[in-house]
Amino acid sequence: MANRKVLTTQVAILGAGPAGLMLSHLLAKAGIESTVLELRSHQEIAETVRAGILEHGSVNLLVDCGVSDRVLRDGDRHDGIELRFNGESHRIDFQDLVGESVWLYPQTDVFLDLAARRQADGGDVRYSVTDTSILDIEGKPKVWFTDADGVDYELQADFVTGADGSRSQSRSAIPEARRQRYLHEYPFAWFGILTEAPRSSNELIYAHSANGFALISQRTETVQRMYFQCDPNEDVGNWSDDRIWETFRSRVNGNGFELKEGPVIDKTVLKFRSSVLTPMRHGNLFLAGDAAHTVPPTGAKGLNLALHDVKVLFEGLDSFYRTGNARLLDAYSDLALDRVWKAQQFSYWMTSMLHTPAEAGGFTRARQLGELNSVVSSRHGRAYLAEAYTGWPGSR
Ligand code: PHB
Repeated sequence: MANRKVLTTQVAILGAGPAGLMLSHLLAKAGIESTVLELRSHQEIAETVRAGILEHGSVNLLVDCGVSDRVLRDGDRHDGIELRFNGESHRIDFQDLVGESVWLYPQTDVFLDLAARRQADGGDVRYSVTDTSILDIEGKPKVWFTDADGVDYELQADFVTGADGSRSQSRSAIPEARRQRYLHEYPFAWFGILTEAPRSSNELIYAHSANGFALISQRTETVQRMYFQCDPNEDVGNWSDDRIWETFRSRVNGNGFELKEGPVIDKTVLKFRSSVLTPMRHGNLFLAGDAAHTVPPTGAKGLNLALHDVKVLFEGLDSFYRTGNARLLDAYSDLALDRVWKAQQFSYWMTSMLHTPAEAGGFTRARQLGELNSVVSSRHGRAYLAEAYTGWPGSR
């Protein structure tokens, strides 16, 4: 490897998604150098349709650290959601229950804002790299990679952050005996569409029905995002627009409510599972975001957890570089996992309450309705949902 070019930085970051770019931005503001390596191109990330709910804590982070005030202009503040079952809608009023809101602002926009900010600030973000490998995480770490022009590098760093998503390579740099991965599979997936149609509702509708779950979300005045529960092996090729709308109608319409339909311009099957890797740190490698944990999209927590991870990690790194004291950095995994498991519970709960397993009998469905009724008919029930959905007001 004699002809690898050597680069040095303080923190090497794998992954230029929201977690990696936000960490790099926070570090730069504190005068700490980082280099971000990303396997995909900027264009590929920018063109991937992703989910869209930001907790108020995530919005504050984006605004306060100077990444985006666009979220306040172009994002939509939502003061509640609707739970719909037995053909009726029940509003969960976040403002009334916990005095908080969430923002509908797609992850793709968060990425665009962060990428633009890093570029404007002269950040070292390298897209379309290949052949990455992480070495010596128990000592002085290095990352080998080949850049988009085919040049081989050795990046030497004090720390490495694996923020490289659910198919993370960096987590396999942790010796198997030193990591434990918890997994939970669900017997369904989401069929996600974008449609050219006006809004059917100003707030999100999470609908339970005898035919399965559906979620009505929004994007702009003229494009909407919606999902319905499907089999994980579903093939988008089998779904005409007519069949898609028939499915949505049978799960959401009724009692005077009708979805506004239009041409379907994007269809994808989103598989999901719950996973947590612990600890989120080994030696000088720290994992953040989907590289360490994934949640089903029902609780809208994935992006928010990733941003929370890097905020905690940044505080640890900043404290270490300023004072030489590693106490906060050493607490990273525990501090991050605390919120991760709350979010796992919330996402699991929303998912199992709202989706119908294919083999579910009458008991399962009637019990789910009992559960949904318990939630909406009790202020405590609604407040539990509102607290978790908006990101546990008062927590760090
Ligand atoms: C979305 O708008 O894409 C979205 C919203 C809420 C969710 C999941 C996805 O729980």
